[in-house]
Amino acid sequence: MSPFHLTRTLPEDATGAALRADVLDGLTRTPKTLPPKWFYDAHGSELFDRITELPEYYPTRAEREILLGRAAEIAAASGARTLVELGSGSSDKTRHLLDAMPELHAYVPVDVSESALRQAGEALVAERPGLEVHALIADFTAGIRLPETPGPRLVAFLGGTIGNLVPEERAAFLTSVRALLAPGDALLLGTDLVKDEAVLVAAYDDAAGVTAAFNKNVLSVMNRELGADFDPGAFEHVALWDAEREWIEMRLRSRTAQTVKVPALDLAVDFAAGEELRTEVSAKFRREGVTAELAAAGLDLTHWWTDAEGRFALSLSVAG
Ligand code: AVJ
Repeated sequence: MSPFHLTRTLPEDATGAALRADVLDGLTRTPKTLPPKWFYDAHGSELFDRITELPEYYPTRAEREILLGRAAEIAAASGARTLVELGSGSSDKTRHLLDAMPELHAYVPVDVSESALRQAGEALVAERPGLEVHALIADFTAGIRLPETPGPRLVAFLGGTIGNLVPEERAAFLTSVRALLAPGDALLLGTDLVKDEAVLVAAYDDAAGVTAAFNKNVLSVMNRELGADFDPGAFEHVALWDAEREWIEMRLRSRTAQTVKVPALDLAVDFAAGEELRTEVSAKFRREGVTAELAAAGLDLTHWWTDAEGRFALSLSVAG
């Protein structure tokens, strides 16, 4: 039996149906919104990889610094025999953690991208013959079932992606993560931290325009998948800091009054000149807030690590 297992819990057509539902709902409400998960087709994923290398975009480097420095502590504190990673992608981030866990029995990467799971999973089992890899093709925001592997379990959700959820969604998400855990199992959570507004805005509005291209890529996704006729040049990239809600918002601002057709939905969408479509929320956190949100879901924060500059945090919390 191969130690690499791949399980699909996402129907083949689920993505298309979900995109149509999200676009119909988001483009017919006021103000217009789209969920950020639709950025990530092949081109969008490439653009995101370029973002992580930009001088202005610090979160990836800051988190890597923490993982590099603290992997052994994280491994020891969790005592995990199974590592579950939500939104694993290429599993790059987890490399340091896996290397620090020689006793690990199973790695369970969870992602919507089958190709990323295959690539990362097959490379890993070749390198670590003793390690079982159970890859799950799943949308972790929709709730997942984990394979039967030995505990304790450590669930990792890295990159600061929890910031893409608004507070009510975070509460529901953390509750569903808690439901995957037995008492003593743990969550390793990456959160970007509140900091100077100029630093935050620059991270989402870089000088080279890569984030602007990433933001506009969602228009190309709708053009290709839904036959829409968005002109990316007719929209302007906007990144702003909402000081009250402590999140960055990315928007696309219509440069003119225009009507966009979305044939797959039988829809015509009017944009006024200057009208904005919200494409992403990226919340920034403080230790007290993270502690409280975890506690509300039944998770007790036991460790808090930041990079040397205090820009990003990894927290470890334990299920009670
Ligand atoms: C992958 C969700 C963590 O919010 O910083 C990067 C996505 N958006 N630049 C983030 C993103 C614009 C990123 N996350």
